[in-house]
Formats: sequence, structure tokens, C-alpha cells
Amino acid sequence: MKIAIGCDHAGYDLKKEVVKFLNEKNVEVIDCGCNGESCDYPDIAQKVCAEVTSDNVDRGVLICGTGIGMSIAANKVNGIRAAVCSEHFSVKYTRLHNDANVLCMGARVIGAGIALELTDIFISTQYEGGRHQRRLDLISNLEKQNN
Ligand code: RB5
Repeated sequence: MKIAIGCDHAGYDLKKEVVKFLNEKNVEVIDCGCNGESCDYPDIAQKVCAEVTSDNVDRGVLICGTGIGMSIAANKVNGIRAAVCSEHFSVKYTRLHNDANVLCMGARVIGAGIALELTDIFISTQYEGGRHQRRLDLISNLEKQNN
């Protein structure tokens, strides 16, 4: 398992906790910034999404203040299915049903304890496929219409 991770200034402290957690689980991590300095979350989302869509990593994690800005930016990238999650049910089902490939979290919304558990579910839950694939194909069609 290889994960690309990124944050803006609001998500930096939480990102450090998530990186430590992933390292302890022997998950390879590519850190796309920032390093605590003030920055614009779409730039970081773009970097993490490029790692995901190029198949250089299995999945991505993005952290900002709410997780929402990162998810809006990430979902503009073809092939990205980014989900903002702040509780366990959503992260489980966005993997099972949506094959979400980017997890977005809000550092001003959830604490590190929840964030690490959400990250754990995100990396360990496999997509169910089956009837859900038809819906993901329809999402891909929407992307093609926009190009
Ligand atoms: C930064 O202040 C904040 O706007 C950003 O981290 C994020 O919450 C945007 O969605």
C-alpha cells in the first residue's frame, strides 16, 4: 500500500499525525506538502491527485480546515473520487460502494483519534464492485461529457 498525502496550513498538524500512523503501519507515504507554511489547498490537491491518477500510489489523503475545499478541488480531476468523511460509516461505505480513491478530512472538524481510525478504514476496506461499477461508469461518462 502506497499513499500520497497533502494538506494546507490548517491541516498540517493533523497530517503529521496521519503520516506517523501510516509509517507505523508500514504504509509507504509520499508527502506532497505543505510543510506548515500558508498555501492554497487546490495546489496541494492537484499534486496528490496526480500521484493517484498516474497510479504512482494506491490512494490519496487530503487535509484542510474542513476537508471540503480539498474535496471540491480533487473532484475536478478526472478519475478522482474524493470523499470528505468525519465518521466511520461514511468512510467504510465510500470505499465499499464509491471506490473512493481520495479521503478528505477537516482538521478543524475532527480530532486526531477519529482521523487515524478513518484513515485505517480507508486503507483497509476494499471496493465491492458488482452493481456499484455501473454507477462509477456513469460518473466516468459525466467526466467525458465535460471534456
Ligand atoms: C484555510 O483557512 C481554510 O479555508 C481551508 O483549510 C479549508 O478549510 C477550505 O476548505
